[in-house]
Amino acid sequence: MKSKIMELARLIKNADHVVVLTGAGMDTESNIPDFRGKEGWWKNIDPRTVANIETFHENYSLFHEFYSMRLKMLEGIKPHTGHLLLAELESKGMIKSIATQNVAGLHVMAGSRKVYELHGNIRSIRCNRCSREVDVKDFLNKEKCKSCGGPLRPGVVLFGEMLPTEAWDSALSDIERSDLLIVIGTSLEVYPVNQLPMMTKGKTVLINNEDRGGTGMFDLKIIGNAREVLEELYENLR
Ligand code: OAD
Repeated sequence: MKSKIMELARLIKNADHVVVLTGAGMDTESNIPDFRGKEGWWKNIDPRTVANIETFHENYSLFHEFYSMRLKMLEGIKPHTGHLLLAELESKGMIKSIATQNVAGLHVMAGSRKVYELHGNIRSIRCNRCSREVDVKDFLNKEKCKSCGGPLRPGVVLFGEMLPTEAWDSALSDIERSDLLIVIGTSLEVYPVNQLPMMTKGKTVLINNEDRGGTGMFDLKIIGNAREVLEELYENLR
């Protein structure tokens, strides 16, 4: 692993436009379970039965129960050193931006400035009807929108919904311009984000704790935990 991390440090030093793409594996070391890893959420719950727009409309109680549980689980969570080091690399001009599928906002909390939240942010609660933004506690208390009486929801992308256009367009344009794309902690099973690694003309690197099928396209694969790999990478970049 050491020599591969040294190789990644060399690629970063020689690149002009480095973009990072993260998934749930980036956040597991902050105690947020991933979806399809060994301890993943979707081992017990089928995403299509809960995190989709039909359930929101037809079985709001189930939808509300699931997202309340997730929101409560996120109380007190903090970015780990890996998130902090990515923010540090951005401030040193070594990476341009982070596109993430994660909804807990840890990159922003860590101080990263250019973050594209492709699947939204779970704490941005809004009315599904009039889009009024409200407090998390209103959702947890299962209140209705005070303006129009519509149902409240977290600002995440549900199955069956479009990705936020601005975040997607910015991420895509940054990745198209990139000469190095570093993908961290994602199974790349979910469309359309799983198409992004193919949009760069530059080198591609995967950091993941398992070598899944379908990741053969990467120029370099580092199999290890995100936090440990990023800590060692940072040492190599000093
Ligand atoms: P997945 O759970 O599908 O994949 C996470 C990957 O990270 C797995 O391959 C894990 O083995 C790996 N992993 C776990 N911990 C790690 C660590 N500490 N270091 C390195 N790798 C680690 O998560 P995503 O690919 O992000 O979307 O899932 C994509 C989307 O599926 C989510 O954003 C969510 C879900 O449905 C929506 O809800 C719209």
